[in-house]
Amino acid sequence: MIEIRKLDKAFGSHRILRGVSVDIKEGELFSVIGPSGMGKSTFIKCLIRLLRPDGGSIIVDGTDIGSTSSESTLARVRRSFGYLFQEGALFDSLTVMENVAFGLKYLTDIPKSEYPGIVREKLALVGLKDVEDLKPAELSVGMKKRVSLARSIAAAPKYMLYDEPTTGLDPVTTGMVKDLITDMRAKLGITSIVVTHDLNLALEISSRVAMLNHGEFVEVGAPAEFRRSDNPAVKEFMRISHLSRE
Ligand SMILES: Nc1ncnc2c1ncn2[C@@H]1O[C@H](COP(=O)(O)OP(=O)(O)OP(=O)(O)O)[C@@H](O)[C@H]1O
Ligand SMILES: [Mg+2]
Repeated sequence: MIEIRKLDKAFGSHRILRGVSVDIKEGELFSVIGPSGMGKSTFIKCLIRLLRPDGGSIIVDGTDIGSTSSESTLARVRRSFGYLFQEGALFDSLTVMENVAFGLKYLTDIPKSEYPGIVREKLALVGLKDVEDLKPAELSVGMKKRVSLARSIAAAPKYMLYDEPTTGLDPVTTGMVKDLITDMRAKLGITSIVVTHDLNLALEISSRVAMLNHGEFVEVGAPAEFRRSDNPAVKEFMRISHLSRE
């Protein structure tokens, strides 16, 4: 379980997160939505301390990493997270096999001889086979997403963070990524946090949706509750999202 308490983050005088608090429970698929520039990526980066918060706690399974300066504590907690970057961030010069095995090398004590088996198993989970020897340049955008996801789940994370997983993808690939995210939760029981400006995606896949607006979660609830929200910022965001779909 992840307990976030009064999380603050500013860049200079620009306060991005203003005392954000929320509990993310085991097995949840929790989405954070909100307009561009509101701090969704900042939130997710603070969660694993890629960014250092100015105040507040981030308690992951009982350990507060909000302000700790112990590298070993941070490293241990980070091991329970997988992170799907918006751009995929595969290493161009490495093969698919090497890319997916990357985390195994740094995050686990698994012997090298077991890498190929694990890599093939993770690739199969995301619907790929016989691509181990290819380089990223030889893959389609959708295949790259799959390989990136296989890489982020290789070390068997308990939590997965997805930053804009479908941005810039065509509708077919978007549908595929959506299925992958729900599969990771269903098949592996991974607690997932998705950051997106795609309201429809969030409403479709999440157990709970939170809207970040001016540094705060102005609404947190199950999709059905969310749709009925009276909050003006939520209503406006729903209206705009609806318009942009037509
Ligand atoms: N490293 C940084 N230094 C200074 N300002 C930053 C930094 N990272 C983000 N910001 C600012 O913080 C604000 C929130 O950025 P963030 O990337 O978290 O927004 P976002 O909600 O993820 O936006 P998008 O939907 O466009 O991805 C923006 O105004 C951005 O310019
Ligand atoms: Mg972002």
